[in-house]
Amino acid sequence: MTATRTDSPSSAVAGAEDLFRTLTGSAPAGVWSAPGRANLIGEHTDYNDGFVLPFAIQHRTAAAARLRTDGRIRVASTFAPEPVEVALADLETLFPAGSRAARGRDAVPEWAAYPLGVAWALRALVPAWVAGTLPGMDLAIASEVPVGAGLSSSAAIEGAAGSALNALWGLDLDAVTLARAGRRAENEAVGAPTGIMDQMASMLGQADAAVFLDCRSLETRSIPLGFAEAGLEVLVIDTGVKHAHSTGGYGERRASCERGAAALGVAALRDVTPADLPRAAELLDPVDFRRVRHVVTEDQRVLDMVAALTADERSRGLPEDVIGDLLVASHASLRDDFEVSIPELDTAVDTALAHGAIGARMTGGGFGGAAIALVDRTLVAAVSEAVRAAFSARGFAEPHLFTVVPSAGPRRDA
Ligand code: GLA
Repeated sequence: MTATRTDSPSSAVAGAEDLFRTLTGSAPAGVWSAPGRANLIGEHTDYNDGFVLPFAIQHRTAAAARLRTDGRIRVASTFAPEPVEVALADLETLFPAGSRAARGRDAVPEWAAYPLGVAWALRALVPAWVAGTLPGMDLAIASEVPVGAGLSSSAAIEGAAGSALNALWGLDLDAVTLARAGRRAENEAVGAPTGIMDQMASMLGQADAAVFLDCRSLETRSIPLGFAEAGLEVLVIDTGVKHAHSTGGYGERRASCERGAAALGVAALRDVTPADLPRAAELLDPVDFRRVRHVVTEDQRVLDMVAALTADERSRGLPEDVIGDLLVASHASLRDDFEVSIPELDTAVDTALAHGAIGARMTGGGFGGAAIALVDRTLVAAVSEAVRAAFSARGFAEPHLFTVVPSAGPRRDA
C-alpha cells in the first residue's frame, strides 16, 4: 500500500505528455492537472441545495494541450484506443443545450463527452462572436484516479480539461465558474444528473483541508482537517464494483428528493429541518419519506462535523468519537434510508469498525465504488488485512486498498 504525498509529481502528467507526443508528434504547450475527491460527509445532499464536506485527493488527472489553427478539437485518452475529433462549431449540435445529451451521448464515446462537454460549456460562457474566434485544440488526457471507484475520476477530467482550455483560450475564468462548466458538461453532455460537489471539491481543494460547500450559494470555507498531525490516515476501500450515475438508481433517488420537496412546498430539501420530519412522514409515501429523512439528517451531520472540526476544543486534539459517530450514522442512513449501499460497502465499513477504525462510511454516490475509513496510522495494515479477509470469506472480488491525503486543487504542471 502506498500513499503519494500531495506535493509529489503526478504520474498522470508524464502519461498525458507521452500520449500527446504520440498523438501529434510534438510537445504540448502545457500540462494541467486536477484531483479526484473523497467525500468526508454529506452524501446526496448536493443536488438538494444542501451541505457537503469533501476533500481533493492526491490522485490526479492531467491534460496535455496545444492550440490548433483549424478550429477543430481533438481529444485522446489513455482510457481509449482512438482519439475523437470534431469541429468546435459542431459542439452545439452535438450537445444541444438542456438536452441531457440525447444526441451527444450517442455521437461520441462517453469518455470523450467529458472534455468535449467542457469545451462546449466554456464556449457557451462567452459571446457567440468570441466563441467563433476561439482556436482549436489538441488535448491528451491521462489519469491516476481510479475509475468507477466513487472518487470522481469524471470531475478530475473536467477540471484538467477545463484548466487547459481556460489557460490556452485566455478566458481567465475562476475556479467556481470552471466547476460549474464541469458540472454542466456532466449533466448535459454526458447525461449524468449529478450535483456540483465533485467539481467544487476538485477545483477548490487545499492540502490538509476539506471544502465545506453550501451547494445553494456555492460559498465555500476551507476546514483544516489535521488528520496527519493526529496520526490518522484515510483508508480507501475500493470494492471494485463499478457504478455509473448516468443510468438508473442515481436519477431515481434524485426524483424522490424532488417529489419530497414539492410535497413539502419547498424549493429544495435543504429547506426542510429535522423538526419538519413528522409532517413529512404524514405527507409522503414511506419510500420517499426515508429518502427525505436521509437528506435532512445528512445535512445536519455535515454541520455537526464542521462544528466538531472547528470547535475551540480542537486545541486539545481531534474529537475522534464525535467524528466517528457522524461517519457511522451517515453510512447507516445511506444504507437503510437512501438505500444506495451494497453488501461489499457494508462489509468494508463493518469490518473496518470492528478492527479499530474511528469511523467509516461509503463515499460518493454509491451502488458500488468505495468506502473510506478513518484509521490510526498504526492500525492501517491490520484493518486492510481484515477487510481483505472479510471480502474473501464472503466471496467478493478482492478490494483495492490505499490511503488518500487531502490535497490541493488544479495546477499547471508543465
Ligand atoms: C456523485 C455525484 C455527486 C453527489 C454524490 C452523492 O458523486 O457526482 O454530485 O451527488 O454522487 O453525494
